[in-house]
Amino acid sequence: MRRYALLISACAVGIGMAALTARAAEPDVARGKSTYAELCAKCHGAAGKGDGKEAATLATKPKDLADCARMSSFTDEQLLRVIKDGGPAGGLSKDMPPYADALDDSEIRDTLAFIRGLCPK
Ligand code: HEC
Repeated sequence: MRRYALLISACAVGIGMAALTARAAEPDVARGKSTYAELCAKCHGAAGKGDGKEAATLATKPKDLADCARMSSFTDEQLLRVIKDGGPAGGLSKDMPPYADALDDSEIRDTLAFIRGLCPK
């Protein structure tokens, strides 16, 4: 019986740790917003409409990040890859630059959380 009790408490600790890690991994939308304003808005526009100053100079114009129908056709994994490794990593234009050097994974997740918030569900 003692062995079972030990096993059960070990499981409880495991579940508790998993819950804590999950909470720590919640994206920080406010941080994502400032990263977006700093690095992304110049092409994508402040509200994601694709009307940033630099957009006019690109061969492929950024699309509307607030277009729910279009954005729901991408999984988070696809968009995380595009932000990390650039447009071609997701079959898109190389006019979307890679950010693997500028941002770490959690910053990229925060920025995506902000972008997802542009499309109210
Ligand atoms: C130099 C201009 C430029 C900058 C800066 C830029 N992007 Fe993009 N991005 C693009 C273009 C152009 C596309 C569309 C490519 C296509 O449709 O083939 C795109 C596509 C995307 C997509 C895929 C979804 C979509 O609408 O096609 C995401 C997500 C994205 N960008 C996020 C970001 C984030 C986050 C940043 C900042 C960290 C950023 N971009 C910075 C130009 C840019």
